Amino acid sequence: MSSSRLTSSLYLLTFALLLQNVLGTDPLFRSCSITPNSTVTSSYKTGLSVLMVSINQLAPVEGFALGSIGQNNQDRPYGLVLCIGDVSSSDCRTCAVNATREIRKSCPDSKRAVIAYDNCLLKYSETDFFGQIDDEYKSYTWNGNNVSNTVLFTEKTIELLSQLATKASYNSTKLYADGEMDIPEGSMKVYGMTLCTRDLSSADCKKCLDGAIGGLPRDAYGKEWARAFGGSCMVVYKINPFVKP
Ligand SMILES: *[C@@H]1O[C@H](CO)[C@@H](O)[C@H](O)[C@H]1NC(C)=O
Ligand SMILES: *[C@@H]1O[C@H](CO)[C@@H](O)[C@H](O)[C@H]1NC(C)=O
Ligand SMILES: *[C@@H]1O[C@H](CO)[C@@H](O)[C@H](O)[C@H]1NC(C)=O
Ligand SMILES: *[C@@H]1O[C@H](CO)[C@@H](O)[C@H](O)[C@H]1NC(C)=O
Repeated sequence: MSSSRLTSSLYLLTFALLLQNVLGTDPLFRSCSITPNSTVTSSYKTGLSVLMVSINQLAPVEGFALGSIGQNNQDRPYGLVLCIGDVSSSDCRTCAVNATREIRKSCPDSKRAVIAYDNCLLKYSETDFFGQIDDEYKSYTWNGNNVSNTVLFTEKTIELLSQLATKASYNSTKLYADGEMDIPEGSMKVYGMTLCTRDLSSADCKKCLDGAIGGLPRDAYGKEWARAFGGSCMVVYKINPFVKP
């Protein structure tokens, strides 16, 4: 392929990715779990519908809501919605409603599922997971491009993310922190974000975030961006600032 054709197909690819982001159709992460020998009953489905409507209404107020609904303890869904960082309440609502629609479409037979977008995370389960670190869902993604001076950049990235993990856990109102750090001997900066679902305690938030920072593979450091996602916490670093609403 000639280099100009390669360039134009790269443009097209970039455009398609941008378009997907604008339309908000592409989740960052989605997982549906099938519980062996356990069917999704109609009462579970009904409970889930009512629960989703209720937490989607509550979430935009504080950026977070959780709850459980059901007649009997054996067959009731537990769910939460977390809006990420400082997203506005209307973006929070849109994201939560879309996430609900998307997860019910893609995981109709799951008692447990999680989905995340740039603006929100939605999760439900047949067991009471509130206040527990979720080790089931983990995903690590990163951009393939190396930055220059990867060694120093990686050192600073880990330093920044560790500071933000402490800040989100112990010195924030929403178990959320973002920030930036200069990379010495260059004009570059690294930008970071750390957050936990707000059912966690400060100590468990810190533990979850430290696990995410340490869990990011070696190859994910020294790149233009990387993200560690779990059902209870998330860590992101980038070479560009986060777009604020
Ligand atoms: C929500 O979904 C609708 C329809 O699929 C789409 O038009 C809209 O852009 C989505 N919004 C977000 C924030 O994902
Ligand atoms: C599911 O049911 C099958 C058949 O009854 C049984 O062999 C299997 O052990 C069960 N699995 C679990 C996880 O209970
Ligand atoms: C990034 O650096 C690694 C290790 O030096 C190398 O194996 C890889 O090919 C580089 N990737 C790119 C896209 O240059
Ligand atoms: C918490 O944050 C405030 C304001 O940013 C800062 O002055 C204070 O030193 C921080 N406390 C701790 C324990 O990090």
